[in-house]
Amino acid sequence: MKQGLISVSFLLFLFYHCTTTLAAESPVQAPSQSQAKAPAKGPTSTHTAVEPPSEVPLVQAPPHKALAGPTDVSKVLEKAGGFSVFIRLLKSTSVSIQIENQLNVSNTLTIFAPTNGAFSALKPGTLNSLSTEQKVQLVQYHILPSSVSLQNFQTLSNPVRTQASNTYDFPLNITVEGNWVNISTGIVNTTISATVYEDNQLAIYKVDKVLLPLGIFAPRPKPLVPAPAPVKPSKESSYSTLNSPVAALDASSALNLMPALASFGVLMVATSLYLVSS
Ligand SMILES: *[C@@H]1O[C@H](CO)[C@@H](O)[C@H](O)[C@H]1NC(C)=O
Ligand SMILES: *[C@@H]1O[C@H](CO)[C@@H](O)[C@H](O)[C@H]1NC(C)=O
Ligand SMILES: *[C@@H]1O[C@H](CO)[C@@H](O)[C@H](O)[C@H]1NC(C)=O
Ligand SMILES: *[C@@H]1O[C@H](CO)[C@@H](O)[C@H](O)[C@H]1NC(C)=O
Repeated sequence: MKQGLISVSFLLFLFYHCTTTLAAESPVQAPSQSQAKAPAKGPTSTHTAVEPPSEVPLVQAPPHKALAGPTDVSKVLEKAGGFSVFIRLLKSTSVSIQIENQLNVSNTLTIFAPTNGAFSALKPGTLNSLSTEQKVQLVQYHILPSSVSLQNFQTLSNPVRTQASNTYDFPLNITVEGNWVNISTGIVNTTISATVYEDNQLAIYKVDKVLLPLGIFAPRPKPLVPAPAPVKPSKESSYSTLNSPVAALDASSALNLMPALASFGVLMVATSLYLVSS
């Protein structure tokens, strides 16, 4: 009798373990991985398939960077010339300080720098109509949280994660079309027109349009957030899970089921242990 109860609790424990392991490893979690994959950071080859953007950065990386602290993005852009509006925005939104902090802690970044011409092509008053928060998001939308070389843009998956709050309100698609690295926000299409600066930690590319994000300029309705399904821990639900392949379950219901199954398993183990000890 005792032996039997111990085996039952062992089996239940195994079942609990398997369901939680499945929950952790099952491909049903894939939809949450919308983030851009960080590109492999190999040595930058001087040969590049993308021709229109200049191969040689407009501004060379300083030779003794290690001694000099983080790269000063504003200085780089000033030196390149034609980016004064973007520099002003970086400073007035304090995103320049965030950038400095991130470079200080060895994060890598990619910055799409719109030219002065890009800003003057906007409808008059576009920037002035934005709140401070929107200006911050607009600037952060021009920054990717990893350094992407021209050759590596094709390894990103769309929508690419930017430093703006999320990819639903701030989707950014980057596609490599032959020699072009094309960028689409859902409102504007543009292409990288030159490399302004590149080192191991930072890439700055010139774009001839301001990247206008949907979230600010054409907000979409919020997606319905699925309410957590009330799943009763019952024998039926656990048996049906055991008999059917996990893959056949719809992703959200499988994920919602897991905590219930897990607590059910724990409960059964606890009950069996209690019965054994008494
Ligand atoms: C970054 O580090 C430098 C020294 O390397 C320091 O002077 C500067 O204040 C730091 N910047 C920020 C924003 O932490
Ligand atoms: C990519 O950009 C190039 C250059 O602007 C353009 O000719 C081409 O049509 C673009 N492709 C797409 C799919 O937008
Ligand atoms: C961006 O790419 C995603 C995924 O491929 C696609 O669903 C979406 O329609 C694209 N958006 C734009 C503006 O191209
Ligand atoms: C951007 O490009 C896509 C696909 O090439 C096209 O469907 C869309 O109309 C373009 N949008 C603008 C604003 O040019």
